[in-house]
This record gives sequence, structure tokens and C-alpha cells, in this order.
Amino acid sequence: MLKLNENYLKLPGSYLFAEIARRTAAYSEAHPDKRLIKLGIGDVTLPLPAASVEALKRAADEMGDKATFMGYGPYEGYGFLREAIVKNDYLPRGVEISPDELFISDGAKSDCGNIGDIFSEDCTVAVCDPVYPVYIDANAMAGRAGDYADGRWTNIVYMPCTAENGFFPELPGRVPDLIYLCFPNNPTGTAASKEQLRPWVDYANEHGSVILYDAAYRAYISDPELPRSIYEIPGAETCAIEFGSFSKTAGFTGTRCGWTVIPRALVRGGESLYDMWMRRQSTKYNGTAYVIQRAAEAIYSPEGRAQVAELIGYYMENARVIREGLASAGLEVYGGTDSPYIWFRAPEGQGSWEFFDRLLGEANVVTTPGAGFGPSGEGFIRLTAFGDAENTREAVGRIKAIL
Ligand code: MLT
Repeated sequence: MLKLNENYLKLPGSYLFAEIARRTAAYSEAHPDKRLIKLGIGDVTLPLPAASVEALKRAADEMGDKATFMGYGPYEGYGFLREAIVKNDYLPRGVEISPDELFISDGAKSDCGNIGDIFSEDCTVAVCDPVYPVYIDANAMAGRAGDYADGRWTNIVYMPCTAENGFFPELPGRVPDLIYLCFPNNPTGTAASKEQLRPWVDYANEHGSVILYDAAYRAYISDPELPRSIYEIPGAETCAIEFGSFSKTAGFTGTRCGWTVIPRALVRGGESLYDMWMRRQSTKYNGTAYVIQRAAEAIYSPEGRAQVAELIGYYMENARVIREGLASAGLEVYGGTDSPYIWFRAPEGQGSWEFFDRLLGEANVVTTPGAGFGPSGEGFIRLTAFGDAENTREAVGRIKAIL
């Protein structure tokens, strides 16, 4: 008899953002007269940079001409994009990875989840708590999380990130095989310094663990001293895989493009993880569309760079409005300086979902409840700076009004 992947049946409820969408839709249906402002899921609202749109059109024309038409692309992505990423995102930071250590993907989310394919089902996984739910859910689907009870998975190593430790985890007592780190952090909006990351790189090298470093929000770091990549830490090339994304940097949430770096020096059990991932990708993935890779490459042109800087400036101004607005109302607010996320404590000890419902029902503002990101997120709310500027100001005003 056919057997299902029972790991799926252990997953609690629905994916966090699907649950928020469900509650929001139910509220809208019951109150069609209310105008909701959505600052929940971190989805962008500005259009693609003009340079990317032009590149998309040019690439579409190439696809319509027999002389320039492109069929299957390289599994690891086109050289032009891998080279542009290395030249613009890594070399200026002193990181000497090669374009031949990069894989172009359809976004960081897919690769953060799919990377588990090259690791054993028995690997132990450590995550920050609170955490982007994809890391846990994907490992639960693969059978690595154990059982879900009382809001926790039995086999996941949770590393609390709280106001007390500055939202940066302590090294775990029990040595994990895989360690997910994300900085600037989703959801807490905290960025990590080189001094904070160095012990993690040393720890992973010493114990043979692999760090899975999600750098999707790197473009929002404003402090030049803070690292944009784990490879700014010496030794990371022998212990870390890094995920990058065009989603938040250049408005590609719907267009889909990202990358994964697997240094050639990263070897475990005598095997090259680059080679294993290449084997996986060439079997299960046929690459990101040529036109999309051209659109991504265009963000590194002089016009593209200026347009991206403007876009990031727009969202960071939203972040400032939210951060300062909520702080002026007496709330305990974090993030929003090197990150597009603002993390704040619900007033008067209210629970995350309780305050989420109040914000939805009384202020008509959609947020993300911190508890949805893990046990240590309880009592917090996350707001995104990716909204429309006018709506963001109005949302902050509405929140202040109900406090
Ligand atoms: C978020 O809101 O955490 C992100 O937008 C989700 C994602 O990038 O998949």
C-alpha cells in the first residue's frame, strides 16, 4: 500500500505566512468596509529597477530570435551573472570566492530548504529561536526534526535569541551537524558583527559542522564595519554555505533569483559539497530562466546600482518611521537600522497572537506575530519596512492611536 511521507503529517497547522493570509482574508470578508494595511510578510512594494526591466525586455527579444535564442542554460547559472555577483558583492569586501563556487537559483528560500538533500536524515540541526520558519519546516519534512510537542521539535537544537543576549545566540552545548544562521536577522532585525561570527566559524571548523548562512538581507546593512558575508570571517570557506538573494535587494520577490555559494574547500566525509550540490541541481533543477538572470545582472550596471540604492533608501526610511514612531509611543523596539525588519515587544505582556489580532481588528494593520517564528518570539511582533511609504506612516499612526 502506498505510504505517504509521514513527516508532513507531523507539521503543525499551515506555513506561518499562509496562516496570516488566512486570518487576514477572513477578517476582510467579515469587514469589507475596512482598509487594511499589510506590514506582515516581507514582500516588496516598489517595482523592479528600470535597468532590470530594460534587461528583461532585451533578453525577451533575444529569446524571440533564432540567432540569439537560448535553450537549457548551465545548471549552475550563466557565467555572466556569477561573475557579476562575485565582482560586485564579494571582491569589494575582500572575499576571494570564485564564480565557479556559485550556483544561481530561483531564490534563497528554495535553496535554504533544498540544501538538506545532500545531508543525512540523521543530521542534527540547530536554529536560532525565533527563526525564519523555512529552516525548521524543511528539515521536519526531511525527517530531521523529530516530533512536534508543546511548540517545539524534539530533535531541533533551539538557540534562544532574546533581548537579554542582544538577539545573538550562544554556541550550543550539544554539537549540531547543521547550523542555520541568518544576518541581518529575520525576524529580529539584528545584524551580526565579525567578532560575533568568528567563534561560530571556529566552532564549526573544530567540530565538523556546516553553517548554512542566509544573507538575504545583506543589502540593508548600513554600518560599513558589519560583514555582508560569512566569508568575511577567516576560515568560513571550510565550514559555510551561503545563500544570497535578489528578492529584497532589488524587488525580485515575484521575479525569483538568488544564489548559493559552496566553496570548493568545503569538504565533509571526504566529499566535496560543491560536487554533491551540482549532482543534486543537475538532477532536480534546470536553472533559472535566462531572461531573469539578465534582469539580475542589470542591477550591477551603473544605472542599476543607483536605482537599487534608491529603492533600499526608500525602505530604510520606512524602517526609520516605524522604529521611531513605535519607540515614541513607549514600545520596546529593535532592528530597523541594518535591516528592513522591526521587532517590538507587545505592550502590557500581551501574547503575540493576541496583539496581532488587536492590531488587525482595531488598527486594521496586518503584522507577523513573533510566536510564529518560535517559542522565544512569544510576546513580540514583527513589522516589515517593505510597504508603501504613505501606508507605513498611516499604519504607525493607527498603531499609536490604539495604544
Ligand atoms: C518574510 O516575511 O519572512 C519573508 O518575506 C518570507 C520569505 O522571504 O520567504
